[in-house]
This record gives sequence, C-alpha cells and structure tokens, in this order.
Amino acid sequence: MKAVAEAPGKAIITGEHFVVHGAWSLAAALQMKVRVEATDSEKLTIDSDRFAAGTPGLKPVRDFVQSLLSEFSWSQRMRLSIKSDLPHGAGLGSSAATMVAVVAAVSRLRGHPFTVEETISRSMVGETDVHGKASGVDPTVCAMGGVVLFRRGSKPRRVVPQHGLSLLVAFTGKSRSTKGQIAKVVAVRNASQGFFDGLAGSISGVSKTAAEELRTGDLIGLGRLLAFNHALLATLGVSSRELDALVEELTSMGCYGAKLTGAGGGGSVVAVAPEGKEKRIISRLKARGIEAYQSHVPAGGVKSWVE
Ligand code: MEV
Repeated sequence: MKAVAEAPGKAIITGEHFVVHGAWSLAAALQMKVRVEATDSEKLTIDSDRFAAGTPGLKPVRDFVQSLLSEFSWSQRMRLSIKSDLPHGAGLGSSAATMVAVVAAVSRLRGHPFTVEETISRSMVGETDVHGKASGVDPTVCAMGGVVLFRRGSKPRRVVPQHGLSLLVAFTGKSRSTKGQIAKVVAVRNASQGFFDGLAGSISGVSKTAAEELRTGDLIGLGRLLAFNHALLATLGVSSRELDALVEELTSMGCYGAKLTGAGGGGSVVAVAPEGKEKRIISRLKARGIEAYQSHVPAGGVKSWVE
C-alpha cells in the first residue's frame, strides 16, 4: 500500500515577521506543491528530489518523522519519498509544505489520517525546529489552502476573494535562513519596543484591510498595501538589494504593488498585476533569467489518499 499526500506552498501577502509577535497576517496557498509518498519498508528511509540522502538538508525532516512515529508508537519501518515544485529557501513555504505533507502521508499510511487541525499542530513542531520562533502561519495556510487571515492564538479566518485572483511570485535566486531573519527582527524589537509595537499595530490594520480588498476585488488598493508593507519590512532590515530591485522592477512593469514575501534577506517577491498582464510580465522576467510564477487564488490545501 502507498499513502500519498500533497500540500501547497504559500505566499505571505502581508504581515510576515510581525505575525511572530502577535500581529495579523494574510497568506495564500500557491498552486506549487510538495508531494510525499509513504510506503512500508525495511527501515526508515527518506529520499528527496532536493537533497541527497544523508545530507544535512534532510536532517530536520528525519528528526521530525522519527519523533512523530515514536509519539504515536507507530512502526519506523517506512520509506518516504519527497518531491517538490517549490524552490528551497525561497520564502514560498517549502519547509512548511513538506512538514504538512509528511504528517498527512505518515498518518494516512498508519491508518489514522489526521484532520486539518491535527495536521497543523503536528507540523508546527517541525516548523519550530527549523525556524526557531515560528508563528504557525506557514503550516496553517499550507494545510488549509485558500487565503487565510491569521493571528497567533486566534482561530484562522478564511478569506474568499471576490473573483479569481492571480498572484505573481518572483524568486531572487538567493536562498536564506528564516531562523536568522527572525532573530534579526527580534533584535530590532528588543532595541526599540515602542517603535516596533507601533509598526506591528499598523501591519495588523494593513492585513485586515488587504483581506477586505481581496473580498471586494480592489486590486489597486491591495497593491498599495503591498508597497507600504514592503517599506516597513525594509525598515526592519529584512529586505535586500536584490529584493528592492525586484519590487521596483515589478512595479515598473505595471504591477499594482509588490513586496518581499516570507522571511526576506533573499527569497522571493509577491506582486499583484493587472488582470491579463500576468503572463507577459512573467515572460519578461524569465527572459532576464528570473524564476517567476503565476498562481491562481484560491489554491487547495493538503490532500491525502491511498493508492
Ligand atoms: C515565514 O514565512 C514567515 C515569518 O513571519 C515566520 C513565521 O511567521 O513563522 C518570517
């Protein structure tokens, strides 16, 4: 028997970093996915199309799977095969989508498929190991799919866009460590608590307004909020020359707004483009060697089945 699970990547539309400290964030699942196949085997084996067996990149997944299996007293004799459409370290949720798909595939193979809520709380354990102080927004949106307004400790709210929306995502080609970026922001907060809290309050307002713009289909208003959010993130020191240049470029190509997405310091930019212009913008970026994708919103959440 083979258990299969697929979980989407994510783009944070607004509120990354501040969400770790209690602000609201808006995030969307992407159409790009991670697929995990689980089968019974002689011993625990994990292979991935991103990392060679035994390399450090697979260690967090291996540690996570081992602790999940022992927590439920499930047999460790299992083979997991991981395939990902998502670039690693690009801020597009490859680690959260991997954890979510692993939890779903493992629990399905062992005959106790977890609910979405259980999948999120189990995946959080792996996320915290990888990211340090994680908010939970990444595994939540990768498991739930769609667009989610999220705050630590509150029930996630699903946001249904008025009409199908496409997000553009462009990768700087530079990967970075989320843990290091989160630590940088914690240092800013510790140095200037009042200043930071003011920005966090403002970002909560931005996320709620962005959810409203999505509901009503006001893409110009949404783009404006993205531009504002990018400026705040740059103030925290989590942008980079490459990210700023990509934001500038997407805006000059006609996008309503663009910002870094995820932890920053490298990684990717998310943008809102006028309807119908997405493909042209993507082919212009690709012609310049920049990896770029269009993702329709809403995209589905985690799925698992037996083959
Ligand atoms: C990473 O996608 C988003 C961060 O806010 C971390 C987190 O919320 O766990 C940087």
